[in-house]
Amino acid sequence: MDAASTIPMATLLLALCTLSALPEISSASITRHYKFDIKMQNVTRLCHTRSIATVNGRFPGPKIVAREGDRVIVRVVNHVKNNVTIHWHGVRQLRTGWADGPAYMTQCPIQTGQSYVYNFTILAQRGTLFWHAHISWMRVTLYGPIVILPKRGVPYPFAKPYKEIPIIFGEWFNVDTEAVIAQALRTGAGPNVSDAYTINGLPGPLYNCSKDTFKLKVKPGKTYLLRMINAALNDELFFSIADHNLTVVEVDAIYTKPFNSDIVLITPGQTTNVLLQTKPSLPSATFLMAARPYATGLGTFDNTTTAGLLEYLPPTFSLPSTLAENLALLKPTLPSLNDTAFAASFSSKVRSLANAQFPANVPQTVDRRFYFTVGLGTSPCPRNQTCQGPNGTKFAASVNNISFALPSTPLLESHFLGQSKGVYTTDFPNNPPFPFNYTGTPPNNTLVTNGTKVVVLPFNTSVELVMQDTSIQGAESHPLHLHGYNFFVVGRGSGNYDASKDPAKFNLADPIEMNTVGVPAGGWVAIRFRADNPGVWFMHCHLDVHTSWGLGMAWAVNDGLLPSQKLLPPPSDLPKC
Ligand code: C2O
Repeated sequence: MDAASTIPMATLLLALCTLSALPEISSASITRHYKFDIKMQNVTRLCHTRSIATVNGRFPGPKIVAREGDRVIVRVVNHVKNNVTIHWHGVRQLRTGWADGPAYMTQCPIQTGQSYVYNFTILAQRGTLFWHAHISWMRVTLYGPIVILPKRGVPYPFAKPYKEIPIIFGEWFNVDTEAVIAQALRTGAGPNVSDAYTINGLPGPLYNCSKDTFKLKVKPGKTYLLRMINAALNDELFFSIADHNLTVVEVDAIYTKPFNSDIVLITPGQTTNVLLQTKPSLPSATFLMAARPYATGLGTFDNTTTAGLLEYLPPTFSLPSTLAENLALLKPTLPSLNDTAFAASFSSKVRSLANAQFPANVPQTVDRRFYFTVGLGTSPCPRNQTCQGPNGTKFAASVNNISFALPSTPLLESHFLGQSKGVYTTDFPNNPPFPFNYTGTPPNNTLVTNGTKVVVLPFNTSVELVMQDTSIQGAESHPLHLHGYNFFVVGRGSGNYDASKDPAKFNLADPIEMNTVGVPAGGWVAIRFRADNPGVWFMHCHLDVHTSWGLGMAWAVNDGLLPSQKLLPPPSDLPKC
């Protein structure tokens, strides 16, 4: 295990003794140490060998395992030529924004030869999350699971699974993705798309020259917990296993009311735990599991299908291999690539458990309301250049028509020092700057403005935010991710949000709590959160191409009055730019 946690043996023994004597004790938190060496590694997929950035030479990267309440310390050492940062996607980072990871938001990048120790405690969360690089498109190969177990002695709110298996989706490019995005930003065109999707790093049998297939070997009559993560760069995915039902029990490290679905929709940045009940007796078939995109935009996308195999193992003896090879291979049926009706119906089923033990603490009152348009737009082509975006412009993306420009000094540092001058302004608009029929015919002028603007929130503000898709350059589903918080999804709909009618339909009883939500293509979503975590928090589309084009903004949440409501001071090894 190259990601071995090096917990001092004495600590471990002490923890074990304490815990076995008092199984219900919930404060026996430990510290888990990991070391991430960012280094190049040759990896071959689809008959293309590339040198890719990895953590400890592994692709996908190592799994972080912790219990709720544990402290996690990850020393990241950068041995590659690119700048890197690591983001612990979905970890709340209460008062520890310095460990959040988005480059130029909460830290300067870790440069070649440098290191940084991410130090944070996982509080009031349990389930599946993931870590990934958070600079340019480096997360294409730098990603891995985070598994947060419940406190010792605390069961899952569902039957204990026989085994737990991470299923992490990614995207494989036969070419260097840093060159892909650099070229796209230069020419203004949409970037080249990936060559394959992967399950646990493996494209599977449906691609040319693909020898690598993820195989899930199961026993009959058991329940497996699949910890699914969409770490793909730019694509939402439908997933299904032939002839098997899945029960969704958790998303974004929040338990859901269990519901059955043979197909799961998972956007980049989302995690979804499902229970897979295997057949009661050995079937005479092998089952394909497959994922392919849910794509709504007008641009080209990778429309291929990644697949893995669900293979049944006989209870005691093994099948002669010839027999196994002759088993029928059953294939799942996936929705069509633009099945927005399926997406809407699936999303509406995801509800919080909302019981006494796991309540949905959705803010019932609102201090500040925001209405943000999210979508694409254009930037003018620089003089003496020809551009390949819409009508000779460059593609851009924005929130309330502001295309987010990354600063060269991290926002968190400026905020903490009270020195925002020249770094950011606090005039991010509460509403779209000019109203139009957002989901109707787009306006003639689709130019965005560039800026590094934030919304400042007093500590503990109760926020309601409606995010409205626009039809500029095509209506499109956008998975919006908020750092530092979970939010409650209180409403969604198609078309334009109607502030006079829609709030009456909001779900304030059992809304799901998430860190990433799909803004419906040609529709809107309403979320609520309480700004109780001081710091500067990025909110952006988790399609990397849209982040690169500026689809993001930041919330600057001020300290509260009590010492426990203040952002901690920066660690001494915080990288410098
Ligand atoms: Cu998973 Cu800001 O990202």
